[in-house]
Amino acid sequence: MRTAILASGRGSNLQALIKAYQSGSLPIRIVAVGSDSPGAGALMHAEEAGIPSRVFPINQYLHRQAQEADILNWIRENEVELLLLAGYMRVLSPSFMREVPFPILNIHPSLLPAFPGLHAQRQALEYGVKVSGCTVHFVDEGLDSGPIILQEAVPVLQEDTEESLSQRILAVEHRLYPEAVRLLALGQVKRSGRRVQILQQEELR
Ligand code: GRF
Repeated sequence: MRTAILASGRGSNLQALIKAYQSGSLPIRIVAVGSDSPGAGALMHAEEAGIPSRVFPINQYLHRQAQEADILNWIRENEVELLLLAGYMRVLSPSFMREVPFPILNIHPSLLPAFPGLHAQRQALEYGVKVSGCTVHFVDEGLDSGPIILQEAVPVLQEDTEESLSQRILAVEHRLYPEAVRLLALGQVKRSGRRVQILQQEELR
């Protein structure tokens, strides 16, 4: 599967995906990395890995449709078959979603549907939950609302700060995202409506 990754910031999930890909444990080919932010650490990681990257700086476009049109062209030029959002801080528009004929995945640092949107870890702490975690899901037209592929729980400790909770969740994200991508690329992810089933290897035959 020819795969593109969009990231806005630090890029640690992108790095985890690249690492898994380079170790041969992901049956995909990461062909392109894109960002809406020229200073994104993600771009540096792409360069280190020798993966071509492109920046689509939002302030250089008259409106968001123009930026998304460029992203769509980039996807088509690269013959992308799977798009991964790894800390991409913009919600893709419904018209963009309609133009993309293949899956788009995202990772979110909470157990969705709890705490969608920004600062999910802070939201979890402020709410007072005892368990949070992370979710890999298909992207749909809503905010962090698409069908869930994998989730893993992370306990919230009494002494946790936003920083310490984020760090523990992040360590799980780095394992869960490549795993979800691996299952999808192997054809083990079966979606029916909102429910996503993970098939065993034997069930594929
Ligand atoms: C991660 O916590 C991810 O779940 C969220 O944004 C953050 C991105 O971090 N969507 P990084 O850029 O991958 O380090």
